[in-house]
Amino acid sequence: MQLIYQSYYFSSKQKNKIILISRFMYQLLRSILFCFHPEQVHYFSMNVLKAICNTGLGRWCVQQLFKPDDQPIQVAGLHFRNPVGLAAGFDKNASYLHALDMLGFSHVEIGTVTPLPQAGNEKPRLFRLKKDNALINRMGFNNEGVDVVNQHLLAWRKKHPQSTLIVGGNIGKNKVTPNEEAWKDYLLCFETLYDAVDYFTVNVSSPNTPGLRALQDVEALEVILQKLSDALRARKIQKPVFLKIAPDMNEADALAAAALVARLQLTGMIISNTTISRNNLKTPASTLERIGAGGLSGMPLKNRAQQLLKVIATSYGNRLVLVGSGGIFTTDDARERMEAGARLIQIWTSFVYAGPSVIKNILRK
Ligand SMILES: Cc1cc2nc3c(=O)[nH]c(=O)nc-3n(C[C@H](O)[C@H](O)[C@H](O)COP(=O)(O)O)c2cc1C
Repeated sequence: MQLIYQSYYFSSKQKNKIILISRFMYQLLRSILFCFHPEQVHYFSMNVLKAICNTGLGRWCVQQLFKPDDQPIQVAGLHFRNPVGLAAGFDKNASYLHALDMLGFSHVEIGTVTPLPQAGNEKPRLFRLKKDNALINRMGFNNEGVDVVNQHLLAWRKKHPQSTLIVGGNIGKNKVTPNEEAWKDYLLCFETLYDAVDYFTVNVSSPNTPGLRALQDVEALEVILQKLSDALRARKIQKPVFLKIAPDMNEADALAAAALVARLQLTGMIISNTTISRNNLKTPASTLERIGAGGLSGMPLKNRAQQLLKVIATSYGNRLVLVGSGGIFTTDDARERMEAGARLIQIWTSFVYAGPSVIKNILRK
C-alpha cells in the first residue's frame, strides 16, 4: 500500500493548486483554532500533527502538501536543506522533531533548555495580537530539564537515523540560579546536550526570566562565553555556537557582544529574540495593559530585527555567521534579511498565523 502512494507524485501545477487549497483550508481551520487559548491550541495541533506523521499515509500527505524542494546551503560546516528553520521556544522539549522534519524545516532549535525542569510562569502566558499578526509570551523557560530533553533527542536520533534535519540546542539558566552562577547552568546544558545536537545557541535575551538580559552585558557575557569556548576547544568534534540577542539592545552594546563572540572565535549570532517594546501596535492600549508583561514577536518586530542585523552585519558580517529571526512572514521578508547579511532565517509567529505552508511559501522564489 505504502509503495502505491509513494510512487505517485504531483506535477508542479498540481502542487501549486494544492498549496492554494491548503492555505485556504488553514485559514478556515485557523478561525476555529483561534477561538481557543493559544497554548492549548499549540499542544493540541502539534499532537495531532505528530499522530498524523506517525502513519505512512499521513506522513506522505504532509510531505506532499508542505515539504518544499531542497535549496541546500552549507552554513557553519553544516548542511541545511534550505535556509528556513523553526526558532527556539516552539518545541521546547524536542517532542515534535519528526513532524517538524516532515513539514520541511531545515532546522529546529529546541529549548530553551535549563538544567532542572521548570514549570514556567503562571498561565495564561501566551496571547495573540491578531490585528498586529503578533504574539506576546511570558512562558518563562517552561521545559522538562536537560536530562529528559537529551533522552528525547537521543531517542529521535535512534528512530530516525537518516533524518537530515539539523537540531540546535538553545540553552539557558534556571530561574532560581543567581546570575553570578549562571555560567554553571549554561555549561551543564552544553556538556549534557553535546552529542545530541548539531549546534548550540546561548540564550541570554529572553525577557521572561527575571534578570536574564543583564547577562548580555559584556562582562557577564564574557564569563559564560569563555567557559563555553574552553569546553568547546576541549572537544574533538567542534560544534557551532551562536549567541542570541534581544532587539532592545542598543547598537553599541550589540556590537560589543558581537566583538566578544568574534574574539572568542564562536560561530555567530541570532538576531533577534522577542521585544519588550509595545510601540506602533494596532492592538488597543487597554488590551495590552490587560495582557501585561512579556516578549512581543511577529510582524511588529520585523523592522527592528532587520535593522539590528544590518548593523552587526556591516561590522562583523565577514567574521560571524548571522541568523535572522523576528517578523519573517514572506519571501520578501526572508530575502531582505538574507540581503542584509543573514545566512539562515528562523520563524515562529508566522507559522502560527500563516500555517505550515509558510515554509514553502517563503522558499517559493
Ligand atoms: C511562545 C514563544 C516562546 C518562545 N520561547 C523562546 C525560548 O524559549 N528561547 C528563545 O531563545 N526564544 C524563544 N522565543 C523567541 C523566538 O525563538 C523568536 O526568536 C521570536 O519569536 C522572533 O521570531 P518571530 O517573530 O518569527 O516569532 C519564543 C517565542 C514565542 C512566541
